[in-house]
Amino acid sequence: MGLLNKHGVFERHSLILTIGILITVSIGGLIQMAPLFYMENTIEKVEGMRPYTPLEVAGRNIYLREGCYVCHSQMVRPLRDEVERYGHYSLAAESMYDHPFQWGSKRTGPDLARVGGKYSDEWHVDHLIDPRALVPESIMPPYAFLAEKSLDFRNIQDDLKALRAVGVPYTDEMIENASMDLRAQVDPDIYFDEQDALVARYTEASGREGTVQIRDFDQDPDRITEMDALVAYLQMTGTLVDFSTYEAEDLMNAR
Ligand code: HEC
Repeated sequence: MGLLNKHGVFERHSLILTIGILITVSIGGLIQMAPLFYMENTIEKVEGMRPYTPLEVAGRNIYLREGCYVCHSQMVRPLRDEVERYGHYSLAAESMYDHPFQWGSKRTGPDLARVGGKYSDEWHVDHLIDPRALVPESIMPPYAFLAEKSLDFRNIQDDLKALRAVGVPYTDEMIENASMDLRAQVDPDIYFDEQDALVARYTEASGREGTVQIRDFDQDPDRITEMDALVAYLQMTGTLVDFSTYEAEDLMNAR
């Protein structure tokens, strides 16, 4: 009966049983995880993804500061109802420059991964100032102060440097020009030449034309507000990858 009798050892000694369990479980874990360390890239490369512009980074920082992620996720799951409501399911590459990621497991409000271009800037500004003015049954809090507060971007270079330290491929040129690029994106009439430089830098990184949106986002041309940055960020979400040319295995035959 050889082997079959030996299980008595495990059943009588809890320490030996614990060690046995640990060994068995770690074999399973290793089989799952070890290959990931040898794969060159676990994220499928997708055309269009680029580091966020300084203005978008500033807007994203406000999004994090205000805790928008408490109520909003940024991940469209590959389920039919989600794809029908929000659009193509999220790709891993779409959050590759998000530190920290904004996937989320709870939604009080809708998913925002593809909200860019869904509404006008005006809609966003009005909605953030008073959500119930546009959606009477909304329980979203108002953020009217964002339109009053000038954007403080003294540290924008450091923000980009910090992102580069965790793997976002900002070039030296992008970091040197961070502050001017931020102004050029929101004040195109004043920084006319700088605007071209901004577009060239981020278009090259993207490999795709037209991903840098340049305008006064909050319709207050006199100054750069936190509202400008947040709306610029929202209008960019989900717009970098061109899904009309993206071909993946149709995992779910959603259409
Ligand atoms: C207490 C939860 C809550 C918080 C916090 C919150 N929202 Fe919302 N949000 C909602 C709800 C609920 C809706 C749906 C009703 C509506 O449109 O107002 C919504 C809707 C939205 C929409 C419209 C989405 C669509 O597709 O129609 C946007 C954009 C949005 N929120 C942005 C933000 C931003 C930016 C912040 C942070 C500054 C934020 N929200 C914070 C609950 C929240």
